Amino acid sequence: MQRILLTGATGLIGGAVLHQALERDDAAQWICLVRCASVDQGRQRVAARLARFTDPFTAQRLARKVEIVPGDFTRADLDMDPRLHDVTHVLHLAADTSWWGDERIHRTNHDGTLALARRARAMPHLKRFLHVGTAMICGAEAPSLVREEAYPHPSAKHLVAYTLSKAAAETSLAEQFADLPIVVARPSIVVGHSKLGAAPSSSILWVIRAADRLRMKPCGPDSAVDIVPADWVAETLHGLLVKPDLKHRLYHISGGERSSTRWRDLIQAFEAAEPSDGVRAFTRFDLADRASLRKRFAEVFGLDGALKQVMLRATRAYYAFCALDLTFANDRLLAEGFAPPPSLPEYLATCLDGASEIIDQFADDMEMFATPTPAIGQPMTVSA
Ligand SMILES: NC(=O)c1ccc[n+]([C@@H]2O[C@H](COP(=O)([O-])OP(=O)(O)OC[C@H]3O[C@@H](n4cnc5c(N)ncnc54)[C@H](OP(=O)(O)O)[C@@H]3O)[C@@H](O)[C@H]2O)c1
Repeated sequence: MQRILLTGATGLIGGAVLHQALERDDAAQWICLVRCASVDQGRQRVAARLARFTDPFTAQRLARKVEIVPGDFTRADLDMDPRLHDVTHVLHLAADTSWWGDERIHRTNHDGTLALARRARAMPHLKRFLHVGTAMICGAEAPSLVREEAYPHPSAKHLVAYTLSKAAAETSLAEQFADLPIVVARPSIVVGHSKLGAAPSSSILWVIRAADRLRMKPCGPDSAVDIVPADWVAETLHGLLVKPDLKHRLYHISGGERSSTRWRDLIQAFEAAEPSDGVRAFTRFDLADRASLRKRFAEVFGLDGALKQVMLRATRAYYAFCALDLTFANDRLLAEGFAPPPSLPEYLATCLDGASEIIDQFADDMEMFATPTPAIGQPMTVSA
């Protein structure tokens, strides 16, 4: 029987994985490592996340199917809980996903991941350790079609501490844990759910809507942004976790050349989904021109209050990523037999259906921008 240890069950992707797995009701036993004071509290935290995908009663029923191990993955090597002994698969999703703030992020995403890997060495039945990284470890100067094997690279120019820490974790896992059955999956940009729209999370969706409202973009109409929905990511991660044989150790979980989104198509999808806002005429602006974006943002959203100030900084930060014009090759994934994802223009209308105000949706991402380092656009030094 599969015994799957999941970290990050209370997060966006972890919740999506768990919801699909528990609904599927296969024989696998899921063990969730959750930060909590007691098993009951941990179960309630998992149920609260599952309730974003289903009704609260079903969420409670599903949450009762999992084993909860209270704990912090960054101290997993000190946790000799016997329930972890028989684990056959590890799906490591937990991470500090805030963009700014160096030390804490490195401690969690790098040092913490190594602590979990050390604990995995004491799992004698382990078949696979699926570490979830991010495709954005390629940094700001990558070629427009990014291939898995080119990264992590010591000369990558990271825009934020988060991607730097994820690159460092991959480097150290490869160097120090060659004895473990580690596979790395790197999602691109996860936005919405192809069937439930924004209900599970409006993370990043708010910024795409904000760009539409601002009618400003920092790149041309053919520029690409590689976006995938959470449900497809969850299904694909589960597939990679349990597929007995894999050809590679590294996979992008991405749209690739077929499903990556072009701005032109995204704008047309907005026009089709929200025709009352008319035909969109976008202005292209230079990211260094902070004043123009600030002025336009103030006109459209106002700049009253701390929340909107943070939202402006976050919008600027996301624009910096959008301007990179990156597509993450997914041929490896498709060659393993996984289905390609739908592109964002194909499910945008679902995400916009009944969506709350943009400023309210931003609340889903606010924590990521809690400690600002405002030098967006200036690459950070790499120390993997
Ligand atoms: N979302 C994306 O667009 C995207 C794109 C590429 C890659 N990824 C990667 O995918 C993974 C999941 O992302 P996500 O968007 O689902 O993240 P998320 O919603 O921010 O969730 C993060 C999860 O990590 C847990 N966590 C953080 N520190 C922990 C600790 N010390 N001990 C135990 N649990 C801890 C959080 O638990 P609490 O609830 O206790 O805080 C939460 O469950 C991450 O590794 C991220 O780098 C995400």
